[in-house]
Amino acid sequence: MEQTSAPLITLIVAAGEDDAIGRDNALLWKLPQDMRFFKNTTWGMPVAMGRKTFQSMGGRPLPGRFNIVISRQPDTASDRLPDLRHVDSLDAAIAWARETNCREIFIAGGAEIYALALPLADRVLLTRVHAEFPGADTHFHGFDPEVWNLVSAQPFRKDEKHAYDFTIQRWERKTAIPADK
Ligand SMILES: NC(=O)c1ccc[n+]([C@@H]2O[C@H](COP(=O)([O-])OP(=O)(O)OC[C@H]3O[C@@H](n4cnc5c(N)ncnc54)[C@H](OP(=O)(O)O)[C@@H]3O)[C@@H](O)[C@H]2O)c1
Repeated sequence: MEQTSAPLITLIVAAGEDDAIGRDNALLWKLPQDMRFFKNTTWGMPVAMGRKTFQSMGGRPLPGRFNIVISRQPDTASDRLPDLRHVDSLDAAIAWARETNCREIFIAGGAEIYALALPLADRVLLTRVHAEFPGADTHFHGFDPEVWNLVSAQPFRKDEKHAYDFTIQRWERKTAIPADK
């Protein structure tokens, strides 16, 4: 059946208490439970990301998802892969995602792309890592809890595989963005 309504735009991000998300173009932690959440949530969906985040993943598309890499530089070679597209703007990423007839598009960072997408987002899936990371060089800025409703929060305790406590939070925008955004 043809999808008629615009897909939801969801930011998916993991950030420390100080909003830290990365350092030296890599993540600041290894949290397998959160990686599983990311994989299960985004599976089969379009996932848009900045060129640096794509490179931080080894320059390989996430399997089982439609990968959309945002860059000002054209990259026609990678566009020969069926599950990878390079686009030159967030708008183009959203337009391409819509063509997949999806019900949701995920924005997977990094900081530059989160900053562009946050004003357009309907939902934020925020893994809050309960620690501070003073050595971080990349942050998730601009998230104002006043603008969002916290609809669920699932806590996880640190253990031998997880160095930090963390909570997976689902936030929905209080006032919906008009469909012709
Ligand atoms: N904790 C998390 O949840 C999470 C998630 C994702 C990433 N990260 C971390 O975040 C860091 C990377 O983030 P970042 O902010 O440095 O980079 P980024 O957002 O991943 O990518 C930045 C690149 O996106 C392209 N871009 C940005 N604005 C654009 C625009 N308006 N139009 C077209 N292209 C545009 C540019 O690519 P070109 O230079 O090619 O033009 C720019 O260099 C890494 O440390 C990564 O590990 C953390």
